[in-house]
Order: sequence, then structure tokens, then C-alpha cells
Amino acid sequence: MVSEYIGTVISTVSSPSPSNVDFVVTKGVVHRGQFVEIEHAEGTMLALITNVIKTNKYFERADSIKEFEARGNAIFEQFPAAEWEYIVANTRPLGVFTSSGVRRPSTPPSPGTKVRLANTELLKKFYGFDDNGLHLGKVEFHDLDVKLNLTRLLKKHLAVLSISGAGKSYAVSCLIEGLLDRKKEHGRIACVVFDPHGEYSSFAEPAKKGFTDYSDRALVVKGNQIRIGVPNLSIRILSGIIPGLSLTQRRELSRILAELKKDMRAGNGPFDFAKVKQAIVDDSEIKSNTKAALLAWLSELENMHLFAKMDLPSIRDLVMPGKLAVIDLSDIIDVKKKQIIVSYFAQKMFSERRKARIPPFLLIVEEAHQFCPERASEEQAISREIIRTIAREGRKFGASLCLISQRPVQLDTTALSQCNTKLILRITNPYDLKHIAESAEAIDQRSMDMITSLQVGEALIIGEAVGYPLFFKVRQRKSMPSKHEITLEEAALHYEEKITKRDSETEALL
Ligand SMILES: Nc1ncnc2c1ncn2[C@@H]1O[C@H](COP(=O)(O)OP(=O)(O)O)[C@@H](O)[C@H]1O
Ligand SMILES: [Mg+2]
Repeated sequence: MVSEYIGTVISTVSSPSPSNVDFVVTKGVVHRGQFVEIEHAEGTMLALITNVIKTNKYFERADSIKEFEARGNAIFEQFPAAEWEYIVANTRPLGVFTSSGVRRPSTPPSPGTKVRLANTELLKKFYGFDDNGLHLGKVEFHDLDVKLNLTRLLKKHLAVLSISGAGKSYAVSCLIEGLLDRKKEHGRIACVVFDPHGEYSSFAEPAKKGFTDYSDRALVVKGNQIRIGVPNLSIRILSGIIPGLSLTQRRELSRILAELKKDMRAGNGPFDFAKVKQAIVDDSEIKSNTKAALLAWLSELENMHLFAKMDLPSIRDLVMPGKLAVIDLSDIIDVKKKQIIVSYFAQKMFSERRKARIPPFLLIVEEAHQFCPERASEEQAISREIIRTIAREGRKFGASLCLISQRPVQLDTTALSQCNTKLILRITNPYDLKHIAESAEAIDQRSMDMITSLQVGEALIIGEAVGYPLFFKVRQRKSMPSKHEITLEEAALHYEEKITKRDSETEALL
């Protein structure tokens, strides 16, 4: 469907050029952020309205207006001034649709060329939206759903960045819904979330009226119930968890583990750290100071109540096509323990995926700056290495990352720069903005300025998934919002109800 003309390209000092086309509005109202199409010698040019300026010849000279009004005259009453108001829109050409595909504009349209609102099909083609893609929102002013192709969005990783409260977790919930809603014939991947605040647990609860129920496709594992099987720990993983391990200690521990694993294969059953410690005590080859150090390290790990004879849950229960597993870390206070869990499960997922023993997956890391920090010693960043490895190598194996952070500047640059698509919501901190600009080539100053003024749920997506930066509005979620989101009033009421109940119970006892 061809829409009607809304304007005509004008000739100014800087327009029309391949990067800047201004037009005068001849019909209706236009908005910044709207897309238009302009006839072009090579085909149809698609352009984005970057600014809208109202002009009126009667009000061009400040001194005359002041003079005139100072004498008690009203310009609008005495002159046909209103008829002289006109609107000029500045646009940025994005591409030209030619018979041989979309090209970057290299020549301008001619002055006098007619301008129309962009056809939605054209826009859809330009951004590469996919009917079977992940529905994240809507392009404002155009009746067009943002449906991103799964491969383009996730194959080379996604970063979701904004200040706290701008809508990151909400947008990621929409993404998860899209993954869980996928039909088998379109290809379903598994989804695992490391969730430090327990924000995603509601996916596994039966939905209240008005919400879509995902509880049959979602599993929540509480951090304190998680166990890591000691026989599954390689010396490499252990060195990551115990950064102070010396070379000698590492060698001896590696030998003991190999012996215990051999015993296990011989039918002696799986082992835990108590058994490893016993084997160290019984070993005659290890020097006493090495023994003491190893026993101390292992006791420290034992005290975390995290290690056992077997993994709980097993990786295969966690990573299933079309399913979501939420690893709810909100009940763990110890940062090191959280990092060990993330590190272990991420390594395990990556290595199992390389062997094609689990389906392709998306690993979502909330508060990614905690698990993959920019400046922190090895001891304080146990999970950083594996996140970097997946960021660098994951795409070859169908292991995708979604890193979420409200402190981009504290997020590891190596990992961030591997996220070829970035979903950016409101950001105000100049250091964070600079950090993002450094890790993304496609972002221009005007877009950067707009990021600071976005509203909750408004987003800019840049990179691989869309090709050209796009501002859009995140859609409403279908799943139930998390309990975590109660208002301060509600929290205050809950507290007082609890107190009243306790008081009446005490009274009854007296
Ligand atoms: N697209 C949206 N539509 C409606 N409400 C939203 C949207 N995005 C966020 N919100 C609301 O804004 C608040 C903060 O969102 P949240 O996703 O928790 O922010 P963040 O994870 O960035 O800290 C929540 O109460 C959420 O319901
Ligand atoms: Mg959040």
C-alpha cells in the first residue's frame, strides 16, 4: 500500500545530501522518530526524521517583534501570520532500496521530490524483522512489531544495559517469553538465568488471571539447594575456585583426584571432599606443609555447603529445548559462593554443548558486572574467565550469552565487546555512555543524546540483530510480574499486618 505524500524535499545549504535530506511538510503532522520514503534515481530511499522545526517569516527578527509588541500590537491580529507557519523536517537517509538490494545512500534525491510516510513492509525489510522472530515491542508511529530473528539476535550475544529501574529485567522477561513461545518446528533453544534477586521465579508459578502461564516450561532452583558434584571438578575448575593454589599443591591435588576418579570408575561410587581430604591424609608422598595447605583449602570449600557427591540439579535437567531454568541466587549472601555456582554451571554448560549433549542455549546473566567485572583480581572474579570464553567462542557451538548490567563501566570490556547486539534503555551516567560508545561502532552522537532522555520501557537496539540503530517501545509482558516488584506501600502494609497478627497471638496466650 502506498501512503499519501506528506512533504517535498527542499534545497538548503546542507540539504539534500546523501546524509541529510530536509523536507517541508505539506500535509498532516510529522514526528521525530518517524520513517519516510523518498523517490530516488536508484530506487526508494528510506530516511529517519531526526528533527522537526517550525518556522514563520513573521517571527524571524527578534528586534522587530519586540518593537512591535512593545507598542501594544499583536502580530497575529494584524497580519496573516498564522498562515505563514510551516514545518521543516530534517531526515537522515538510512538506505536506498534498489533492484539489487539495499545500499548505503551515496547520492541525494533531487530538491522537489515528494516524501511519503514509510511503508511498514519496507521498514520491516530494512530491519530484517522475522515473522517467526522474537517479539520485543513496537516501532513508534508505525504499526510495526519488532520481531527479531533468533540467530541474528543471539548468535553473537546480547547485552542489556541501563540504569536501575529503566526496564532491563522487564525487557528480558519479554525475550524469555518469546523463547518459551517458540514452536518446535521453528527451532527451540534452552534458556538459563542466573538471577541474583529472584526476579524470574514467577515464570514457574501458576499464572493469575490475565497472564500467560509458563509454569509447565519453567523450573526454579534455589541457590541453597544447589550442589556441585566433587567428581565433576577438574583441576582447572578447582584452580579457578582456589586462586591461591600453588603449583605443588595443584599437582598433588590433581593426582589425588585422578586416583579417586579411577576408583570411582572401578565401581567405588562417587566421592565428596571428605573423601578427598581422607585420601590426602593417607597419602605418604605429599609433604606435610602441602598437606596442611590442601586440607585447609578443602575445609574452606566444605564449609560453603555447596559441594556433594553429585550435581544437583544435573545439567541435563537444567538445559532443555523450549524450557527456562532460573537459578535463584537471592538466598545466597556470599559473593564467592555465587560466583562459584555461576562459574561451575557455565563451564559445564559450555563443555556439554561443545559435545552436543545439550541443546543450544541462551545463558542470561543478571547483574553481569558482579560475575564478569572489569577491574577485579582473579580471586574476586572467579566466573569472569568462563563468561569471556563463552563470549569469544560460544557462537561456534550455539552457546549464547545475554549480559544484563546497570553498571556497564564495571562490566568486562572483553565480554561486552563480544556482545554484537546491545539493547540500551535509559542511561544517564556519562562514564557508562562512554564505555558503551567505545564498544559499539554504529552509535552516533545524536543517538547517544537520546539515550539519556528515554522513558521506562523505551529502548535503543543497535548491532547485528537490526543492522541500523532503532528506537522502539518494549511491549507489555504476558507473564506474571515478579513478587519482588511490590510497592513500598504494600511492603509497609505487609509489615504492619504481621505485627498486628503477632500482637493478637501474644494476647491470646496471656
Ligand atoms: N516495557 C515496560 N512496560 C511497562 N512497565 C515497565 C516496562 N519496563 C519496565 N517497567 C516497569 O518499570 C519497573 C522497573 O523495571 P525493571 O525491569 O525491574 O528495571 P531494571 O531491571 O532495569 O532495574 C518495573 O516496575 C516494571 O514493571
Ligand atoms: Mg533488573
